[in-house]
Amino acid sequence: MFKNLELIAAIGKNNELGFNNELIWKIKKDLEQFKKITMGKNLIMGFNTYKSLPKKLDGRDYIVLTRKIKEIENVTIYNNKEDLIKNINENEKYIVIGGSQIYKLFIEDVYIMYLTQIEDTFKIADTYFPNFDENKYIKELLMESNQDNIYYKQYKYVRRKV
Ligand SMILES: NC(=O)c1ccc[n+]([C@@H]2O[C@H](COP(=O)([O-])OP(=O)(O)OC[C@H]3O[C@@H](n4cnc5c(N)ncnc54)[C@H](OP(=O)(O)O)[C@@H]3O)[C@@H](O)[C@H]2O)c1
Repeated sequence: MFKNLELIAAIGKNNELGFNNELIWKIKKDLEQFKKITMGKNLIMGFNTYKSLPKKLDGRDYIVLTRKIKEIENVTIYNNKEDLIKNINENEKYIVIGGSQIYKLFIEDVYIMYLTQIEDTFKIADTYFPNFDENKYIKELLMESNQDNIYYKQYKYVRRKV
């Protein structure tokens, strides 16, 4: 577990994450929260999520996991988790931004999770957030709102001391 490693995701009631390598919903206020929480941090993501981003997110450095691609301009690439972990700098902040494969890979390593829980189910989904033990975290409600009849709550989960 790394104190400077966080995670952020927006998930449906059944842990839905995405469909066809895109998000299923577009919630403006949640995207603003995403920007606020991730700003200045190193974004850790899988190659599929990297491909899905519509534009370069300013003020944030990219770390992309892929076993196939060797080089992408202005991106740090790792071909496995172990090499990435070895290169974590304790003076910097890191946040895992998805997708499903990469959340699974890091969920036991992150200290803080920001999870937007959308009060709806999405049958169309083809990628899911992993199950996790809520008892391992202290949960705090950061905000709740709705847009176009989609109700959602953003929680901050901080790992309990063991
Ligand atoms: N709702 C949300 O908050 C949220 C956030 C992010 C993404 N998403 C959604 O999630 C979906 C994408 O998720 P995904 O699970 O398909 O893809 P992903 O986790 O973004 O990326 C998977 C890719 O990462 C690479 N990879 C995985 N494990 C690796 C390892 N151990 N070492 C090195 N590389 C590794 C592989 O790339 P190569 O094939 O290149 O080797 C693999 O194909 C999309 O629909 C996206 O919109 C949702």
